[in-house]
Formats: sequence, C-alpha cells, structure tokens
Amino acid sequence: MLSAELEHRSLWQETASGVSCPRLERGLHVDVAIVGGGITGLTAALLLKRTGLRVAVLEAHTVGGENSLRTTAHLTEAVDARYATIEKDFGPTAAKEVAYSSHAAITRIRAFVRELKIDCVYRTVPGFLYTEREDDLRALHLEYEAAARAGIHVDMVREVPLPFRCAAAVRFPDQAQVHAGRYLEGLAHAISGDGCHVFERTLVRDVDEGEPCTVHVATGLDEGAPEQRVTCDRVIFATSAPPTRFALHTKLAHYRSYAIARVESGDVPLALFWDMDDPYHYTRIAEIFGKRYLVIGGEDHKTGQKGDAEDCWTRLEEYARVRFGVAPVTHRWSGQILEPVDGLPYIGKIPGKEKLSIGVGYSGNGMTFGTLAGMLLAEPDAPRARELLQLYAPSRVKPVASAKDFVAENVDFPAHFVGDRLRAPDARSVEEVERGEGKIVKLGGERLAVYRDDAGALHAFSPVCPHLGCHVAFNNAERSWDCPCHGSRFDTEGRLLHGPAARGLTAKKI
Ligand SMILES: Cc1cc2nc3c(=O)[nH]c(=O)nc-3n(C[C@H](O)[C@H](O)[C@H](O)COP(=O)(O)OP(=O)(O)OC[C@H]3O[C@@H](n4cnc5c(N)ncnc54)[C@H](O)[C@@H]3O)c2cc1C
Ligand code: FES
Repeated sequence: MLSAELEHRSLWQETASGVSCPRLERGLHVDVAIVGGGITGLTAALLLKRTGLRVAVLEAHTVGGENSLRTTAHLTEAVDARYATIEKDFGPTAAKEVAYSSHAAITRIRAFVRELKIDCVYRTVPGFLYTEREDDLRALHLEYEAAARAGIHVDMVREVPLPFRCAAAVRFPDQAQVHAGRYLEGLAHAISGDGCHVFERTLVRDVDEGEPCTVHVATGLDEGAPEQRVTCDRVIFATSAPPTRFALHTKLAHYRSYAIARVESGDVPLALFWDMDDPYHYTRIAEIFGKRYLVIGGEDHKTGQKGDAEDCWTRLEEYARVRFGVAPVTHRWSGQILEPVDGLPYIGKIPGKEKLSIGVGYSGNGMTFGTLAGMLLAEPDAPRARELLQLYAPSRVKPVASAKDFVAENVDFPAHFVGDRLRAPDARSVEEVERGEGKIVKLGGERLAVYRDDAGALHAFSPVCPHLGCHVAFNNAERSWDCPCHGSRFDTEGRLLHGPAARGLTAKKI
C-alpha cells in the first residue's frame, strides 16, 4: 500500500468505483504468470483467458497499475517519437506499422468497452498537434506529411478549437479518450474466474526460467513478508520498469510527468491537444459525474534529478491559468514515463529467454502501446503480429541515429554512482530535518536518508538504491525517495514503490 504521504491521487483514482483483489496466500500453478496489473498486464491476461489459458496477474500494489491510473488517457495515433523521426530512423514501412499499431490498440480498447459494457466514458474525439509559434510551422508540416505517408488521414488546419491563438495544427480524426480507472476496473473484473486470478499486494521478487518456470513472490511489501511460489509455462513482465538482470534498463530513461485537473466552465470542446513545447503539454476534457474537468499534463523531467516537483505543478497551473483562465485546481498527480533510447517500445521475448517476455518503454503513449503489448504477447500468431514483434523486438539493434542519445542516457549512471557519494550532504544533523522533509544527512561518517514525519518521528535508511547502488534523493512534492539513475522510487517507510529495484531501502538506526 502507498503511504499516506504519497496521496497525490489522480482524477481517475478518485472517481473510480475501486476493485479489491486478494493477496496471493498459497502456491499456485497456472499457464501464464503476468507480473504487473496495469494496462499491459490486464490486457494480456484477458486476451490469454479468452484463448482458454489459466493466468495469474501478480500486482505489487493495487490493480490498475502504478502509471495506468496516473495517465491522462489520450488514446492516439499521434506518437511522441513523431512519424518524421520514425521514418528517418526506421524507414517508411516501420512508420506505417506504428500507425497501424496505434490504430489497432484503439480498436481493441473500443471493442473491450463494448463487449464488456464498461462504463468508462469512452469517446471518439479528434486530436490536434498544434503550435502557438510560427517558428514550429516547418516541423509541424514535416510531421503532417510523414503521418499522411504512414497512412493516417490527417489534415493541416489553421483553426484550432482552443481559447487562445495557435499558429496551426495537424488534425488527427477519430482518436479516443476514456476514464482510465473505470476502463481498467472493467478489464480486472472480467479476468477473475475459470482458473484465472488477479492478486494485489503480491510482489514478485524473482523468476527462474525452466520447466516449469518458477515465480518467487513476497505476499506483502515488507521485507519479512512470507514467500510463495507460482509455477507456470511462461511469464510476461508488464512491470513498466524492466527487471535489472535482463539489462533492458540501459536502453530506457525514466521521466516523471505531471498532471492537474480543474472543473471547466468554458467551452473547450471534447478533443485531445498536444503542443510542440519541450517539455510538451497535453490537454483534454474529462466528463465525470456531470462535471467537465480540464486535464492538463506535462513538465516532464528525469526522475530523481529535479529537487522540487512542486514547481512542476505550479508551472502547469500557470500554463492553465494563462491559456484557459482562472479556476481552482481540484486534482494534481504525477507518474513515471519510460523513454526508449530509439523512440519505439520494447515488446516481445527477453533476449536469450524463450519463456519470458516483456512490454516496456512506451513514452507518453502507454495506453495504446501497453494495449498493443498485451495483444502481441497474448496472441503472437494473430495477423500482422509477427512483423510487429520484429519491429518492437527487445533484441533489436537500434538505429545509428540514436547511439548518441543512448550514451547520453547511460552517462547518468556512472556520474551519479560516483558523484552522489562525493557531494556534500544536505545536513550534518537530524535537527536540520524539518517535519515532512527528507534529507541526506552525514552522521558519524555515514550517509543516511532521513525523513521526519508530520508527528516528528525520524525514519532513517541507507541512501544506496538496491538496484545498482546510486544514491536516492528526496522528492518533496510526493514525499518519496527517488533514484536518479534508473528511476526506482521508495516511500518514506523505505518500501519499494517502483522498480527496477526489487527491494526497499535498508532501514538504519539513528
Ligand atoms: C502523467 C502521465 C500522463 C500520461 N498520459 C498518457 C496518455 O495520455 N496517453 C497514453 O497513451 N499514455 C499516457 N501515459 C503513459 C501511460 O500511462 C503508461 O505508459 C502506461 O500506463 C504504462 O502501463 P503499464 O501497464 O506498462 O505500467 P503500470 O501501469 O505502471 O503497471 C505496472 C505495474 O507493475 C507493478 N509491478 C512492478 N514491479 C513489480 C513486481 N516486481 N511484482 C509485482 N508487480 C510489480 C507495479 O506496481 C505497477 O502497478 C501517461 C503517463 C503519465 C505518468
Ligand atoms: S534505479 Fe538503478 S541504481 Fe537506482
């Protein structure tokens, strides 16, 4: 369970009906074990169940997923990697396959909503990639041409239905939006039964590939939680962050993205909007219980590498105020985005492993790419699946164009590993740690990550991240310890919130 300090709940978490699933209490055998209960894991599980297999979803926290419940749930064919870049780096056929993938994922989501009668306010809406600056027009036009060549029926428009001046936009017709929480609950409800299970508060510590595969599970998040085993024919990792030993983390950079919601009294239409700023902003309307909320996301930065996340929400609020007028913010939240080094997600068998597969690295398009991963991992023999699995193969050799970024992303690791140990501590005494604050304190020659809770009690840990040893930093806004190297996060009790680390921080006595 998340600690009280991390209660920056999303609009979807606050307005879903809430599914409660059991914790795994005893050993189990299934055909496929799925690690992670976000959109990737739940989609794969439901499709596998429909093929007659027995599946178990093993979720460390709560069903719906860490990031799938913190999304803004734009379902789009427009991709963060941009079609012009994909065409240049991977070729025109790959760009067409990416467009097809996004379309197929939206179609799959719409079909689930209809078949399962999920009350998740699914709406077909247009999307606009727009700019407020004349300087961006050339880049916008190149993207329009590349998206059209990829097979999407885009238009170039001068009129954008926003209450401020835009220079132009590429209009993507027939995109979609949902209430993420209710959609995921609908999937979870349909999985349990007929030998299939969804477990919460069930942390996978390790997996042995074999005949059968063995999944080692802690039945709870505390260090001493009892262990159980799940045996199965194959395992799908739908964990958002890949487990360390498969080395995929070196091809991914972790970013935090922020979102706010406020009740909208104006006339912003039902549509999706993405600007061309860096970091960019994404905007939509959500209709919930008769209210219209304006939901704006953006202000991404690398996880653990920016002191004050509070500033990111403040900038988003300012962005909203300037462009949409004054209104009080009702919800603010954030989540993790994994950027693959060459722009495309990794979906398929883990290199060198026959029975272990993964879906990871979706950038800001994880609701569609996560759905696609669930589809491809559950039905690898479906029409066009073979070509798509080749394009997204985790073993692919990345295009030369991304080699520079690859080095740049991984330079963070050695720099932090050494630099964090040499940097001056935040404090030399625990007296300098105020209530609600976390600091790296040097005590008797040892560095400690020290948090003082609202009641004044101290909670101390080794700052060494159990993943590969970088030092964590305190995230003031969300009251968590975040690792700057590969994005692992821990709550103020030291418990694991987000991998790739598989354990919490080591507790220390002061
Ligand atoms: C602010 C924000 C806005 C976004 N907006 C959009 C958008 O508009 N459109 C879009 O397409 N995408 C968007 N995204 C991205 C998208 O939400 C994510 O990429 C997607 O939800 C990832 O789904 P997932 O199933 O892979 O991961 P998650 O939803 O993170 O699920 C993974 C689950 O695995 C569990 N887990 C991890 N390790 C273990 C373990 N060892 N044992 C057991 N369980 C484990 C975690 O607890 C977690 O619940 C946004 C993301 C953010 C943060
Ligand atoms: S997440 Fe890799 S060292 Fe912390």
